[in-house]
Amino acid sequence: MNIKQVILQAFRDHPGEFISGEDLSQTCGCSRTAVWKHIEELRKDGYEVEAVRKSGYRLIVAPDRLSAAEIMAGLHTARIGQNVFAHDEVVSTQPLAHEAAAKGAPEGTLVLAEQQTGGRGRLGRPWHSPKGTGIWMSLIVRPAIPIPKTPQMTLLTAVTIARTIREETGVPVKIKWPNDIFCGDKKVCGVLTELNAESDRVNYLVIGIGLNANSVQSDFPEELSEIATSLRIESGDEVKRVDFIQQFCRNFEEEYDHFLQHGFQRVKQEWEKHSYSIGRWVSVQTISQMFEGRAVGLDDEGVLMVEDRAGIMHKVYSADVNY
Ligand code: BTN
Repeated sequence: MNIKQVILQAFRDHPGEFISGEDLSQTCGCSRTAVWKHIEELRKDGYEVEAVRKSGYRLIVAPDRLSAAEIMAGLHTARIGQNVFAHDEVVSTQPLAHEAAAKGAPEGTLVLAEQQTGGRGRLGRPWHSPKGTGIWMSLIVRPAIPIPKTPQMTLLTAVTIARTIREETGVPVKIKWPNDIFCGDKKVCGVLTELNAESDRVNYLVIGIGLNANSVQSDFPEELSEIATSLRIESGDEVKRVDFIQQFCRNFEEEYDHFLQHGFQRVKQEWEKHSYSIGRWVSVQTISQMFEGRAVGLDDEGVLMVEDRAGIMHKVYSADVNY
């Protein structure tokens, strides 16, 4: 951690309290003048810091900006979120994460941006990613699992997002197969998982997450206004995006470590418990066929089971599923 991150961490550990210049200089391992210079830099970054003689420094307001320093301060994970690339504007965080992964970025690296000009979703669709309203991020993981099991990581991510939304906002959400998060009948979050592998080995996965956090209704273009929503619209409260990302990282690491040690069963149970899909009549479009049936559950590998009118059970690995 650099000095700014250490100072931010100290503020996070002592919310609303003064911390003396002496204490900060000891924690940071630098002079009090250096502390003051870094506080000035934080002010330039939009932090409001009160300075009172003999009491020290106190953080009044942190800007709602996604910086590496903010996300890493007080995170306390082993891997997830311990390396962050935060950008103002990018075309898409996905190719940047692929580039970073190919250059050896460690597992848990997060690439995020305030705005994407060419955000992309599943099946080549565009992903609307306006400035400052959402969480647009790509996570690099390197699981030592066989390639056919990698779709389970998408379900694991959806389960983790749903849990984080419940914990951070109390908004009830459901998961639509494989990885859309819905509030009522509107989508609030999507996941795009991309795999880089050799013939029999996973090199890495880039898990792209697009969450409409603080959008208001007028932020959505007409074509999305009936089908998309945000956590702020649903709860009436603004989401603290840094807190959300930190909690997501903690939850993801916990779920991921459990998955690596004990397998898919817990993710499957959680996914089924919060499923929007199970029990519904769905129309399934795969590359080769289209059929209708009732979604009845996941099999032990995470494949969606759909029973058609004739009672024939179909395994849906990859498809567009409509309701
Ligand atoms: C979907 O529901 O179709 C998936 C949407 C995934 C969007 C995220 S936003 C961060 C990352 N960068 C992208 O361009 N896409 C993913």
